[in-house]
Amino acid sequence: MNIITAKTSDLTANYNIARDAFQYDTFSINLLEEKLFRNPSPDLDEYRVLLAKVDENIIGFMHTVTRATESRGWLGLFATAATHHRQHVASRLHQHAVDAWNAAGVQQVEALAMPGNYFTPGLDPRYTPALCFLEHHGFERFSDCANLIAPLDREFETAEDEERLKKIGVAVRRATIDDNKLLDDFFNEEFGPAWRMEAALACAQDPPALHLAIENDRIIAFSAHSSQNREWGFFGPMGTTPAARGKSIGRVLLRRCLNDLRAAGHRTSIIPWVGPIGFYAKHVNAHVDRVFWRYRLTLASQS
Ligand SMILES: CC(C)(COP(=O)(O)OP(=O)(O)OC[C@H]1O[C@@H](n2cnc3c(N)ncnc32)[C@H](O)[C@@H]1OP(=O)(O)O)[C@@H](O)C(=O)NCCC(=O)NCCS
Repeated sequence: MNIITAKTSDLTANYNIARDAFQYDTFSINLLEEKLFRNPSPDLDEYRVLLAKVDENIIGFMHTVTRATESRGWLGLFATAATHHRQHVASRLHQHAVDAWNAAGVQQVEALAMPGNYFTPGLDPRYTPALCFLEHHGFERFSDCANLIAPLDREFETAEDEERLKKIGVAVRRATIDDNKLLDDFFNEEFGPAWRMEAALACAQDPPALHLAIENDRIIAFSAHSSQNREWGFFGPMGTTPAARGKSIGRVLLRRCLNDLRAAGHRTSIIPWVGPIGFYAKHVNAHVDRVFWRYRLTLASQS
C-alpha cells in the first residue's frame, strides 16, 4: 500500500468510496469536491487529501487541514473502501496525517468541523466504526452539537417587521458587492474573520445570499446562506450585535434567507451547528434533525 497526495483528477474515485461509506448523507460529486479541494482560506489553511493506493486502485482517503499559525488542525472526511475494512488502511492514512501535523507544530486536531467548509460539524455517532476508529486513535469527545431542519412549505412574511424596523431607523436589505467596507468594519468589531470569510462567500452568490440590517450607515446584524453545501439549502451564519438584540431583527433576517432558499427550489433548509434552538423553533418552525459528537485529539500530550 502506498500513501500519496490526491489530485483533483482523483475525485471520481474518492466519490465512489464516499458514496458507499457515508450512508446517512446524500451528496453530489460537486459537494464532495467543495469539501476536499475548495479551500476557502488558502492564506491560513493548507488542504491535503491523502490517498491509500494498492497498485492503481484507490482504497481509502483522508482529508486534512493544517492551520500552522494557530497550531491547529482538522481531520476532514475519511473513508476506506468496504473491501478493505479492518486492514489498517485508515490507520496508515491517519499516521501520515499525524506526522505532517507534528512537523507543522500542530497541537490540537478537531474532527470534521473545518472552518467555513464542513460536511458535518462533528461525527454522526451512527457512523459507529468511525467513532471506534477515532477513539482508538486517541480522539476525545468534548461536546455535542445539532443541525436543525426547517420546512419551506410557505413563504415567510417579513414586510410588517421591515416596516416596523424602518420606523425606528433600521433598514433591512440584501447585501451588494459594494458593501465590502461596511462588512469589514462590522466583522472587525463584532464577529471576527471566520464569519467575515463566510459572509464573503455568501455575498459572492448570485444574487448575494447575504441580508443586512443597517442603522446610521452601519451594519448591526446579518444573516447568510449558501456559502457552502448549497444543495442542502444551507443556512448561516447569522449574528446581531448585542446592542441591537431584542428588536426581532434576527427573525426578519432569518426569514429572508429561508425565503431565498425556498425561491431557489429547496423544500427544506438545514440550519447547522446551532446555537439558540428555541429561536429557530419559534420563528421558522425548525426542529432538531441530527446530533453530532465533537471529537478532538491533543497531539502534544500524545508524544
Ligand atoms: C471508519 C473507517 C474509515 C475505518 O477504516 P478502516 O480502514 O477499516 O480502519 P482501521 O482498519 O485502520 O481501524 C483501526 C482501528 O479502529 C477501530 N475500528 C475500525 N473499524 C471498527 C469497527 N467496525 N468496529 C470497531 N472498531 C473499529 C479498531 O480499533 C481498529 O483497530 P483493530 O482492527 O486493530 O481492532 C471505515 O469503517 C469507513 O470507511 N467507514 C465509513 C465512513 C465513515 O464513517 N467515515 C467517517 C465519517 S467522515
